[in-house]
Amino acid sequence: MLEVKNLKTYFFYDDKIIPAVDEVSFSLEEGSILGMVGESGCGKTMTALSITRLLPSRNCKIAEGSIVFNGIDLASLPEDELRKKRGSEISYVFQEPATSLNPVLRIEEQMKEVIFLHRKDIAAAKRDAFIVEQLTEVGIRNAQKKVKCFPHQLSGGEKQRVMIAMAMVTRPKLLIADEPTTALDVTIQAQIIVLLQELRQKFGVSILFISHDINVIGELADCVAVMYAGQIVEYAKAERLMRQPQHPYTQGLFECLPGAWAVKRSRLNVLCGEVPKAGCFPQGCRFHPRCPKVFDRCRKEMPALARQKENQEVRCWLYSGSEI
Ligand SMILES: Nc1ncnc2c1ncn2[C@@H]1O[C@H](COP(=O)(O)OP(=O)(O)OP(=O)(O)O)[C@@H](O)[C@H]1O
Ligand SMILES: [Mg+2]
Repeated sequence: MLEVKNLKTYFFYDDKIIPAVDEVSFSLEEGSILGMVGESGCGKTMTALSITRLLPSRNCKIAEGSIVFNGIDLASLPEDELRKKRGSEISYVFQEPATSLNPVLRIEEQMKEVIFLHRKDIAAAKRDAFIVEQLTEVGIRNAQKKVKCFPHQLSGGEKQRVMIAMAMVTRPKLLIADEPTTALDVTIQAQIIVLLQELRQKFGVSILFISHDINVIGELADCVAVMYAGQIVEYAKAERLMRQPQHPYTQGLFECLPGAWAVKRSRLNVLCGEVPKAGCFPQGCRFHPRCPKVFDRCRKEMPALARQKENQEVRCWLYSGSEI
């Protein structure tokens, strides 16, 4: 349904080019959930925004690559046609519901706006009932009362549910959820994850779910793409990746967590340093300065994403030419 190939999204400045997303390829099947994970600054949001070209500034452009969505390349689609897809076939949910909702409008007014714009098939007289139904669908109790509330009168979890309801109004084929649970506490986070699973099952919506928490991703996603410094460094079925992470970076992500996987290891090898800023990537493998398994070749040549057993893909010289 969605096939991203060799995507390069760059910031163009007079004197330099900053590659925020570099040679990213992945695909998403209908009704499936792809998890995208990585530390702050590794290019997750820029990848998500590239899909509908909602890029943050004029000097930020897709430099290369294709984004084929149901047979149409969004990367080269004229802006007005792309706008139709955005919000109707593809919806976004962002991290901070507080900043995405309008603070001076009641929930029902905000929902009505979306319905007015994208669901001309729903008659004005039926809109109120539809709104209550949508909010109930995403697990908001007392929806009849809640529609009269302003955003600040709702809890963080409720606000995020409203955002999801608004994103689902159009019955999108693809829902892009960029850290939708990061601002929420753990219990609410778990509830939102269950909700997304339910929506996938009920409406068959595909979801691109972005998070920096590999455990959350492992629970929800069918497949996982691990990003580092603008690139995918590992890609596998979630179950395989959780069982056998291959890239030293992915292993490091697990070891950052005080979970069973870390305990199993003899020492806690927390990732040192931080993701290099786009534009300041080192030569060779971009992870090599932080990698505990670095060797000579890593400092000189960039490894490609290479397929291993069970369709796991790894961008690492440790596995070049060998099947795991
Ligand atoms: N407006 C901008 N101008 C220049 N560089 C930018 C801009 N926005 C983002 N970048 C750079 O693009 C790279 C990718 O950023 P992106 O926001 O996609 O990261 P992320 O993985 O979503 O991080 P986070 O987990 O913090 O949301 C970063 O190196 C960042 O510094
Ligand atoms: Mg982000």
